[in-house]
Amino acid sequence: MALPPLEEKPRYVRDMFAAAAQRYDLMNRLMTLGQDQKWRRLVVAACALPPGGRLLDVATGTGDIALEALRLRPDIHVVGSDFTRAMMRVGQSKEGAGRIPFVEADALRLPFPTASFDAACSGFLMRNVTDIPAAFAEQRRVVRPGGRVVCLEITRPAAPIWRDLFHLYFFRFVPRITALVSSHKSAYTYLPASTLAFPRPPQLAEIMQAAGLRQVRYRTLMLGTIALHVGEV
Ligand SMILES: C[S@@+](CC[C@H](N)C(=O)[O-])C[C@H]1O[C@@H](n2cnc3c(N)ncnc32)[C@H](O)[C@@H]1O
Repeated sequence: MALPPLEEKPRYVRDMFAAAAQRYDLMNRLMTLGQDQKWRRLVVAACALPPGGRLLDVATGTGDIALEALRLRPDIHVVGSDFTRAMMRVGQSKEGAGRIPFVEADALRLPFPTASFDAACSGFLMRNVTDIPAAFAEQRRVVRPGGRVVCLEITRPAAPIWRDLFHLYFFRFVPRITALVSSHKSAYTYLPASTLAFPRPPQLAEIMQAAGLRQVRYRTLMLGTIALHVGEV
């Protein structure tokens, strides 16, 4: 399966998530074997927010990271942004979402002042953008000096045995699950294809450094299939 041409990718991605919005959470739980909420809690911890701090959840989708952040840290302020209104509408209907301003915005042009947050995070965004360095640079811009930028993404495992299992999982299991819950024609092939095209964790760390983030580090989860990167502004 080919990925959409770069100039068509934003519209393609928006249509795909708009079509999947109602069943997105269910799809997530099934595909990650129920692990995804645990990773979102790790994202919140990695943001290291000060008391009463401000967090921007970029590409918040149905708001699960933003909501988890407020559940773990009721003292903080969280803003969620995304360019797919249908995803945020699902988020807005969830319990506790009343405290979260949901802002329609492209991750490459965030409508927030420079240094206005203590941390910015994204979950499963970076595979979908047309310019990964620019997306990190935008998050760096809106975070104050000393704050953090945190990225959670799917990645390809390095060890051969896990790599083979990962291919089996992604090219056989994931397309079936996605086809069951998504009405978008090619959503089920986009996910594996975009993951294969995505930089591996060491390269992603270099991209973050090149975008001006310091002390970039990462850890992998779920047999090396998920990467959590953290950088400082
Ligand atoms: C896989 S979902 C992740 C949602 C949420 N972060 C989570 O952890 O479940 C990806 C989200 O990224 C959003 N997205 C993709 N590209 C974007 C962009 N350039 N600007 C803003 N949002 C974007 C999509 O609309 C979608 O809601």
